[in-house]
Amino acid sequence: MTGTAWDAFWSTLPAEPGAALWDSSPELTAARHLPLFRDHVDPSLPLVDIGCGSGRQTQWLARHFRRVVGLDIAEAAVQLAAASHSAPNVAYRSADVLDRNTAAALRAEFGDVNVYMRGVLHQLAPDDRERMLTTIRLLLGESGVLFAQELTERTGWYVAELLAGGARLPKTAGLAAHFEFGARVAPTHDGRLRLLFGGSGFDIVADGDIPLHTTEHTPDGQPLELPTRYIVARASARL
Ligand SMILES: C[S@@+](CC[C@H](N)C(=O)[O-])C[C@H]1O[C@@H](n2cnc3c(N)ncnc32)[C@H](O)[C@@H]1O
Repeated sequence: MTGTAWDAFWSTLPAEPGAALWDSSPELTAARHLPLFRDHVDPSLPLVDIGCGSGRQTQWLARHFRRVVGLDIAEAAVQLAAASHSAPNVAYRSADVLDRNTAAALRAEFGDVNVYMRGVLHQLAPDDRERMLTTIRLLLGESGVLFAQELTERTGWYVAELLAGGARLPKTAGLAAHFEFGARVAPTHDGRLRLLFGGSGFDIVADGDIPLHTTEHTPDGQPLELPTRYIVARASARL
């Protein structure tokens, strides 16, 4: 999706927490992610949350890092995050992380950083995924660590089956139509995150399956959880 489309999405969304499908409670989200990467990071480095959205996870992460910067391409998301999820050590900025000059300016300002990125890569065009990985490598430098959670093909098929079975999931159905995941065939993203990162100059420290908690409920009243993957990685010294 383009920045304009994301801006339109965020500016029409109700402001309350949980309005977006993925805007789950930090106790079910960032709090479960931190133990997966805490032992690998230097918490004195700044943490950059790429595609921070409402800032709900960003604000929680700020309890554990000295300085946190939430970046989002959508100005409407940045405004929402600043109004609803502020903290003394958090700054929110609107930035297209795919833009080379922006990436270079961030690098010059912060030096090595840790990166948190949840649910951003899958909605980028394949070429842009490569560019995003190049940016992340630049931002990590020698000492930063990335934690990423991403949707995969399996997420797409899971959603497709739910919707084909007639489940009433308005948020999921709306996004599936928007992002073309689930409603049609699998997403274009091949889902092989390990290969993608490994082949793009990252050393993988850890990876695995992890549910993405959503703010929607299945017909039997259970919170909808999507099958996704996580990865913890460093920029490889080989490149
Ligand atoms: C699915 S949302 C996830 C939001 C947040 N990470 C979370 O888990 O709540 C993806 C976010 O990435 C942002 N985004 C998309 N492309 C971006 C880019 N090139 N640079 C910065 N942010 C981007 C969108 O505006 C959106 O807020």
